Amino acid sequence: MDDRTGTTAYKSDSNTIEIEPSASSLSFEQEQFMKDVQQGLTNSPKSLPCKYFYDQRGSELFEQICQLDEYYITRTELALLNKINTELAQMIGPQATIIEPGAGAGIKIQALLNSLDSPHSYVPMDISKDFLFYSANIIQSKFPDIQIMPIQGDFTHPVEWQGREKHHNRIVFFPGSTIGNFDKQSAIEFLNSMRSLVGSTGALIIGADLLKERYILESAYDDSKGVTAAFNKNILARINSELGGNFNLDNFSHRARLNQREQRIEMHLLSKIEQTVSIGSHRFSFASGESIHTENSHKYTIDSFLQMASAAGFRALKTWTDEDELFSVHYLVQNE
Ligand code: AVI
Repeated sequence: MDDRTGTTAYKSDSNTIEIEPSASSLSFEQEQFMKDVQQGLTNSPKSLPCKYFYDQRGSELFEQICQLDEYYITRTELALLNKINTELAQMIGPQATIIEPGAGAGIKIQALLNSLDSPHSYVPMDISKDFLFYSANIIQSKFPDIQIMPIQGDFTHPVEWQGREKHHNRIVFFPGSTIGNFDKQSAIEFLNSMRSLVGSTGALIIGADLLKERYILESAYDDSKGVTAAFNKNILARINSELGGNFNLDNFSHRARLNQREQRIEMHLLSKIEQTVSIGSHRFSFASGESIHTENSHKYTIDSFLQMASAAGFRALKTWTDEDELFSVHYLVQNE
């Protein structure tokens, strides 16, 4: 399990003044958020789990990112999916249940649902409740004959929702290269749980972004309009509004860099000055230039991706890429 999303006990270091929290006014989710924030900001180097980007505002900002010129991922994958949807529909067959972890606005699924032969049901899952139900309603109005069963929750903990939909032809649809936001071990664990979810009769259709030149990757994660910077800083805004933090967002700057060795884009928030921030009764000190590591986005070669899939018990029935080999889509089934 990614230690950035785990529940290890609260640690201390000399940079931090600790006072036990009085968390009585926090909801269950907020208490977990508080624990993860305390742990992440106590770690050295500091980090925050990227799943906390996605409240309503964060989800909207992410949708804006998907429209940016620099963020080639969404349009490349969409074009690729449009090209292969008929083929995918033939491979999937009739009466499928499509499960989509981290469904977001549900744009990509609509083209697939349109191509499918009488799909049985669609199970979108998202951490952001308002966004999930808003999108689920739109999809239901466009596809009145399909059963839509939204599940609100953290899809990085799939045990909580496995088995909720027992239909035999289960297809997990996981586009967008969201798998890249997991560390390697967690990605294999997640893929493994998807393999037991789809069983021997289903499949996982998954998008994986490909490793490419540094400047293309870095500008995709540091766009000229500053939308990704606002998305990154939204995690601090959430800490302020939900956990009683007093981050001054102007005192942090957004940074996105390719870590060539780890084959991933890393997003960080850098403290512009030496400062101390309070979150409820907790105080966290930042040196000038100190970073909070907020996200990893792993990039793959076809081989490295299929090796990872194989470690989780999958093999590819087929792999597609766009002409420029920016992005890949894989139809994975359980190894015999
Ligand atoms: C959701 N995920 C696949 C996005 C990515 O590309 O890693 C999140 C993102 N972060 C910055 N821009 C987009």
